[in-house]
Amino acid sequence: MSDLPSVELCTARTWLVLPGEDEAGAVLRYYQENREHLERWSPPLPDDFYTLRYWRKRLDHARREYAEDRALRLIICERDEPEREPGARRVIGTCSFTDIVRGPSQACKLGYGLARTHEGRGLMAEALRAALDFAFETLALHRVEANYMPSNERSGALLRRLGFDVVGYARDYLFISGAWRDHILTALTNPKPRPPGALPPR
Ligand SMILES: CC(C)(COP(=O)(O)OP(=O)(O)OC[C@H]1O[C@@H](n2cnc3c(N)ncnc32)[C@H](O)[C@@H]1OP(=O)(O)O)[C@@H](O)C(=O)NCCC(=O)NCCS
Repeated sequence: MSDLPSVELCTARTWLVLPGEDEAGAVLRYYQENREHLERWSPPLPDDFYTLRYWRKRLDHARREYAEDRALRLIICERDEPEREPGARRVIGTCSFTDIVRGPSQACKLGYGLARTHEGRGLMAEALRAALDFAFETLALHRVEANYMPSNERSGALLRRLGFDVVGYARDYLFISGAWRDHILTALTNPKPRPPGALPPR
């Protein structure tokens, strides 16, 4: 594991990290505590989603996905959290850049979630600004897509705040919370566009 790349980003109030297996307990706690809050907007979850075994495997896999340039899945903590031991940290949210496609599109999809107790403080917007800078500057992505259900007003407001443009409306787009749901499609392009090229070393 130690030879796999790591990512750590800091903002005034948040700290974002690509977690290792040793964060499995902290991530599991976040999902358990926010089960109802997050499942409303979630695809079907595996049967063992709320187990430590699942999160150990999933976090190990996430490190590999990043090393293979397929996805970047970060956890978000409040700024004082790095002082704590791994596993004892309190995770307040997640953000993920997935389905990374290179070639002429250099695009990916963005997903995110924040603990219910931490909504309404601008923390996700702040964390995502840093994560998007990293996606554009370091990962050299050109376009980040984010899609939300029309009833998810908080998610829509967040994307508008970050400058995402609405690019379409997709009927029955994703299977979320037990049914196929319409989604509003949005995207943000790199403010400093550059041609596709060799990736910087990680
Ligand atoms: C979507 C989600 C991340 C939005 O969280 P959020 O806290 O509303 O997002 P922001 O970080 O943009 O915060 C904006 C809020 O903080 C307030 N705020 C307070 N201090 C602020 C500051 N310093 N800067 C900016 N906003 C601040 C804003 O007024 C706004 O509150 P309001 O909506 O009550 O007006 C969250 O609701 C969530 O995780 N929902 C469940 C999962 C989910 O929907 N995921 C996305 C599926 S598409």
